[in-house]
Amino acid sequence: MVMAEITRVGVIGSGIMGAGLAEVAARAGFDVVVRSRSRWSADAVVAAVDKGLVRSIERGKATEDERESILARIVATDHLGSLADCDIVIESVVEDLAVKKALFIELEEVVKPSGILATNTSTLPIVELAMVTKRPELVCGVHFFNPATIMPLVEIIRPITASDETIAAASAFATACGKNAVEVLDRAGFIVNALLFPYLNNAVRMWEVGTASKESIDTAMKGGCNHPMGPFALLDLVGLDTALSILDALYAEFRDPNYAAMPTLRRMVAAGHLGRKTNRGFYTY
Ligand SMILES: NC(=O)c1ccc[n+]([C@@H]2O[C@H](COP(=O)([O-])OP(=O)(O)OC[C@H]3O[C@@H](n4cnc5c(N)ncnc54)[C@H](O)[C@@H]3O)[C@@H](O)[C@H]2O)c1
Repeated sequence: MVMAEITRVGVIGSGIMGAGLAEVAARAGFDVVVRSRSRWSADAVVAAVDKGLVRSIERGKATEDERESILARIVATDHLGSLADCDIVIESVVEDLAVKKALFIELEEVVKPSGILATNTSTLPIVELAMVTKRPELVCGVHFFNPATIMPLVEIIRPITASDETIAAASAFATACGKNAVEVLDRAGFIVNALLFPYLNNAVRMWEVGTASKESIDTAMKGGCNHPMGPFALLDLVGLDTALSILDALYAEFRDPNYAAMPTLRRMVAAGHLGRKTNRGFYTY
């Protein structure tokens, strides 16, 4: 099967990642349909993209014409049917398998049969999403990193069901977005999170047992390993609810104690201290 070129991209979800993804795709010249459950939050994504563009113009990195043409390429909607003509739809809703499965069942009904259905999940088993559709060969993972506008990597995840054409088209899309695409099998955490999260979790463990303060641990990992931010600042950036879901999915798959989420993390999520997005996590913002 030869795949049609990707020109129209659907993004579902208007959270941290959905908004970033929409911006990256629109800036790369794709037509983008952003779908959120409320029209208000879909419109907010477009407003956020515009704010970024205004900043780029102020810094001399974009022109008014570019701003207009990028904004003209984004359609905001609360209607799933508006995704019908998309060549690829990337969902970026909450990290919850049941929610994502229900969404893929709906997408199967509304998106044209040749459309690729992709997920930005950080850890969940993509084959399970593929199997609720009638096109498992067209389902894969396209995992952007946070913030999507800045981070150069995209993991292209191959579930056992995906065709080579789907993986090639998804990789080509990521490359066209200016990203480095790496291919990886459908295993919890893929490459980056499978290696990163034991480290983040063990930082919380180190703090819980009183080895050092979180400020000292962050300072140490910046200065000692040349990381741009320490583990607690990174957890706050990722979102503690998302981090907890990632650890739970990794633990469920591998049963490795390094993936067993530290009690503090679970309690902070229960308390609604989710990091930057709620202005309070390990630090206050
Ligand atoms: N935060 C990160 O650093 C990061 C990085 C890469 C990938 N991801 C993945 O991206 C996806 C979204 O994460 P995020 O950080 O943008 O989360 P977020 O909390 O910022 O946004 C979640 C979005 O899901 C929507 N949502 C919540 N419940 C829903 C439901 N029941 N049905 C439909 N939509 C619902 C919300 O309205 C919101 O638009 C997750 O799969 C996550 O694992 C996150």
